[in-house]
Amino acid sequence: MVSMFQEGEKEMSTEKTKPTTTDSGCPVMSDEHSLTVGPDGPILLHDSYLIEQMANFNRERIPERQPHAKGSGAFGYFEVTSDVSEFTKAAVFQPSTKTDVLIRFSTVAGERGSPDTWRDPRGFALKFYTSEGNYDMVGNNTPVFFIRDPLKFQHFIRSQKRRQDSGLRDHDMQWDFWTLSPESAHQVAWLMGDRGIPKTWRHMNGYSSHTYMWVNSAGERFWVKYHFKTDQGIEFFTQDEAVDMAGQDSDYHRRDLFNAIKQGDYPSWTLNVQIMPFEEAKTYRFNPFDLTKVWPHADYPLQEVGKLVLNQNPVDFHTQIEQAAFEVNNFVPGIGPSPDKMLLGRIFSYADAHRARLGVNYKQIPVNKPRCPVHSYSKDGAMRVEPATDPVYAPNSKGGPAADGERYPENAVWAADGEFVRAAYTKRAEDDDWGQAGTLVREVMDDAARDRLVSNVVGHLNEGVGEPVLSRAFEYWKHIDSAIGERIEAGVKQK
Ligand code: NDP
Ligand code: HEM
Repeated sequence: MVSMFQEGEKEMSTEKTKPTTTDSGCPVMSDEHSLTVGPDGPILLHDSYLIEQMANFNRERIPERQPHAKGSGAFGYFEVTSDVSEFTKAAVFQPSTKTDVLIRFSTVAGERGSPDTWRDPRGFALKFYTSEGNYDMVGNNTPVFFIRDPLKFQHFIRSQKRRQDSGLRDHDMQWDFWTLSPESAHQVAWLMGDRGIPKTWRHMNGYSSHTYMWVNSAGERFWVKYHFKTDQGIEFFTQDEAVDMAGQDSDYHRRDLFNAIKQGDYPSWTLNVQIMPFEEAKTYRFNPFDLTKVWPHADYPLQEVGKLVLNQNPVDFHTQIEQAAFEVNNFVPGIGPSPDKMLLGRIFSYADAHRARLGVNYKQIPVNKPRCPVHSYSKDGAMRVEPATDPVYAPNSKGGPAADGERYPENAVWAADGEFVRAAYTKRAEDDDWGQAGTLVREVMDDAARDRLVSNVVGHLNEGVGEPVLSRAFEYWKHIDSAIGERIEAGVKQK
């Protein structure tokens, strides 16, 4: 049987040009002229099409994300190429499984219209539409982060955005926060190097940064870090190239991704993981959950999992990208959190941000909807579009959904005990703020990369950083590496 809606569509599509309608589907009389009393007279209030157009226009903007406002994304798939079932039972990572994905790339501090090529970490947010529910991996293009306690995140982001008086971004404020937060050293060294401005989103890696837990079908637990390595190769912009590009095309990264996919040049990444046996975390030489640290490859080598391919552009940027809601709390059986305090803070923050920005029923927006059956007890609320059904409570004897603890046991868990405290992680032998930053600049970067690092930092500090922050910045760099610190101080003083 053809519904009235389908009949109507059929009828309209037989005509050459579709007739404009109101949002209610009623044909309108003109695209150009308001209804007036004679050609020169006043506009009539009952021209509801004019009013609908004005009202809709006035409500087109929704709040931008705070942070990560500027970005774009695409759809694609993730295909498992290796067998990692000994580490996780998650359906999405079982051999040969292919899962639809959405990705969104972003900068962190800039607003929705800000240039893509400003120096900043890049977001690498993935939503896997798995058979067991949506699994979201909301990562960055860096393996570490600036801080290790979620209480500092809000302050950190404010220090990177705009001043309250002038509305300007302010390097003094940025370095003030960084130099008073020495745990930022590794990420700042990373950010000021070549990878701080990727040439395109296609030419950068993505990392979970956090440690997560994997659980296999026997209930055995492992700690895991994700590395999505670009198959396009790493490429970067120098500071000067990035500044030029910001002026020429502030949407350069957005345009590059869209055009590549449009031309059939589908970008891909190979997912590798580092796996740490569950018990080893207790005695490892530094806290493996500290988000300011990587696990050296020599200790935990990369193991291949599968391939991420992006092959489909959005058709409606607003509903598919702007309204996309990535949630750190979206876990599926076989994947869970770790004791990383940042991760635990994020598990609250994202769903809360979506409720504030998109409304309580944001999971009914098609891009956020799971592609598997949903049997939840949530109901009602603003903009609810899918009917809820009786019974509306649990437990019930009316055939409503019932949790299946045997099939889905709570096994992404660990033991914890102690007094309630406000304290840093318990220190271990190699828990320091400077060591891995020093390794990066001394052992990973070559001479040319180090020269660019020094030049980038000198340039950054020369733009508005004053005392006492400046002297602290010299000390900060000398703690990372004394030679680099000396060169930075000399470079700033000579300008
Ligand atoms: P490795 O030599 O095994 O790894 C070095 C890593 O550094 C590689 O992953 C490489 O990425 C990456 N890299 C290369 N150039 C740069 C750059 N300019 N900026 C940032 N990263 C770069 O050593 P370790 O595993 O012992 O790590 C040593 C240091 O390397 C760490 O302190 C950390 O700063 C950095 N690093 C480590 C990672 C890890 O997970 N262990 C991941 C990324 C960086 P690629 O192979 O893609 O070129
Ligand atoms: C976006 C909070 C740390 C990656 C956001 C948003 C919030 C937020 C509120 C906006 C969400 C939205 O409106 O859609 C936090 C808090 C953190 C934290 C409280 C620490 C306690 C991190 C870390 C990473 C990260 C460590 C990476 C490893 C991202 C990404 C986005 C984002 C990629 C953009 C997601 C998208 O594309 O929609 N964050 N964040 N954040 N965050 Fe975080």
